[in-house]
Amino acid sequence: MTKDHQSLPGYDYGTERVGHSPVTLEDLRELEETSGLTDEDRHYLALAGEVLSDQAEDMINAWRARIGAQAHLAKWFQGADGQPDERYKAAVKPRFVQWVIDTCTRPYDQAWLDYQEEIGLRHTPAKKNATDHVQALPLVPLRYLLAFTSVVVTTTREFLARKGHSPEEVERMHVAWRPKRCCSRWLCGAALTRKGICGETTALPFGASRATTADRPQLSPSSRCLAANKRRQ
Ligand code: HEM
Repeated sequence: MTKDHQSLPGYDYGTERVGHSPVTLEDLRELEETSGLTDEDRHYLALAGEVLSDQAEDMINAWRARIGAQAHLAKWFQGADGQPDERYKAAVKPRFVQWVIDTCTRPYDQAWLDYQEEIGLRHTPAKKNATDHVQALPLVPLRYLLAFTSVVVTTTREFLARKGHSPEEVERMHVAWRPKRCCSRWLCGAALTRKGICGETTALPFGASRATTADRPQLSPSSRCLAANKRRQ
């Protein structure tokens, strides 16, 4: 079910190319408990993996359609010329498909923890664009990642219901999908907040949008990214 690293460029799960998450396994256990993930959820998550694995690409297409229809989201996949970068979109897509499968099938271990950090960083200037060698905007602000969680959680139900399972089984799979998926997003979000680049403020500080090279080192990482985003808007 999981493709090997050679056949999926940029998919670095479990490799030395992924850094070590600063979140510990103990933190993860506590997060798991906080989100209410139970042994029964693990069972239904495995079932969800069977149900979703051959629909994962359709799910990504549905989410991509939402992103593409909203200019304030689509711009993070645009090249320096302001046009959608189709090569970038095509390169990221199979890794996102793999994430759906991983969410259901991978154990909650160090490799999983490390890759959530990696995915978070790939939405920030620390790693965004680097995997596919593109020139898109450098930061997807945290608020959009968090807001999009609602789309990812709610739309998945429809896909879970497509394979003839009873309404109760669909509900149990959906309940199980939520905490695992949300833990993934919280950990990705934590990567952004640790870097101080949530992009949560909408107002730039004094002079940031017109910052000169000399000014830039005095700006916070968040301000620098917002300024970079602003220059390209
Ligand atoms: C619940 C919300 C989201 C989840 C779970 C998610 C997950 C992912 C995953 C798994 C990848 C592939 C990582 C890899 O290379 O292995 C990815 C990449 C990407 N996502 Fe998201 N994402 C979310 C929201 C968004 C939103 C709202 C945007 C805004 C357009 C976005 C833009 C991107 C971009 C531009 C990349 C490519 C990053 C790169 O250059 O490597 N994501 N995302």
